Amino acid sequence: MLRVEHLTKSFGELIAVDGLSFTAEAGKIFGLLGPNGAGKTTTISMICGLLRPSSGSVHVDGIDLGADPIAVKRRLGVVPQEIAIYEDLSAVENLRFWGGIYGLRGAALRSRCEELLRLVGLADRSTEPVRVFSGGMKRRLNLAMGLVHGPKLVLLDEPTAGIDPQARLNILQVVRDIVAEGTTVLYTTHYLEEAEHLCDELAIMDHGKILAQGSISELKAQLGDGSLLTLQGDFDPVQPEKVSAIGGLRTLEWSAERARFMVERGASVGTVLEDLYGSGLHLRDVQIKEPNLEDLFLKLTGRELRD
Ligand SMILES: Nc1ncnc2c1ncn2[C@@H]1O[C@H](COP(=O)(O)OP(=O)(O)O)[C@@H](O)[C@H]1O
Ligand SMILES: [Mg+2]
Repeated sequence: MLRVEHLTKSFGELIAVDGLSFTAEAGKIFGLLGPNGAGKTTTISMICGLLRPSSGSVHVDGIDLGADPIAVKRRLGVVPQEIAIYEDLSAVENLRFWGGIYGLRGAALRSRCEELLRLVGLADRSTEPVRVFSGGMKRRLNLAMGLVHGPKLVLLDEPTAGIDPQARLNILQVVRDIVAEGTTVLYTTHYLEEAEHLCDELAIMDHGKILAQGSISELKAQLGDGSLLTLQGDFDPVQPEKVSAIGGLRTLEWSAERARFMVERGASVGTVLEDLYGSGLHLRDVQIKEPNLEDLFLKLTGRELRD
């Protein structure tokens, strides 16, 4: 449904998006996960035709954006990171205005607006001016506006950033609902748990590049199959040799105060710990858990996703 090939955008010296390629399959949620400044919004802006790419191509439903931008825009719904609504109009007025731009009229427009206001949980507040809405309510209206013309592909740019838990749950549910009806979604976020639970396919992005891509289980498999062991303590820089002899243990990170290992599936965590304590390491804290995407991000970039 969406094919992005070698997409690049430079702002002067800065390469904000650097040779991005991915395909979002029809009826699925494709996620772009990355910290602030990764290039998510720049990517969305190029796909919806707001920013001209420096190079590369975008195809939506087989149509080349460069060749026929109008046909592409008709199939696209965009929910921008910066909320774009008229504060003095009510929710339903905002929606009707937007639906009108897309050519909806009369009874069709009215019933579509009612349906969407119900979907985002704003039906009972629809006639109040938007300026009295909470941030979460504005985000939900923003989402409804992106869906008003029933687009096949919806681009959602961090739709849940900084909002209350109830609005977040509503937005995530709406995303699942429209995907169940066959819509394709491109979803950007810097929230790892959200990406992990929502997306069918995920690309992890930083500095304009995709670092890893696949289904959640494929991405986790890149960490290897096993448990993650994190040790805090005072580690002499020469001590890695002491633990490298321990079976079933693979070193991911070793610094003066922290060491991280993969305990391979099949190896006994108990035996590994006994060997570690026996090696004379000075340990302050020991933590064992199943690896998650944060660990993959750390492995790929050497830093935490949360800034
Ligand atoms: N119009 C612009 N002019 C110059 N630099 C920009 C512009 N838009 C974005 N950038 C830069 O491009 C990089 C990627 O930004 P952005 O796409 O907004 O990232 P994200 O949405 O992942 O936080 C950042 O370093 C940002 O400062
Ligand atoms: Mg952004």
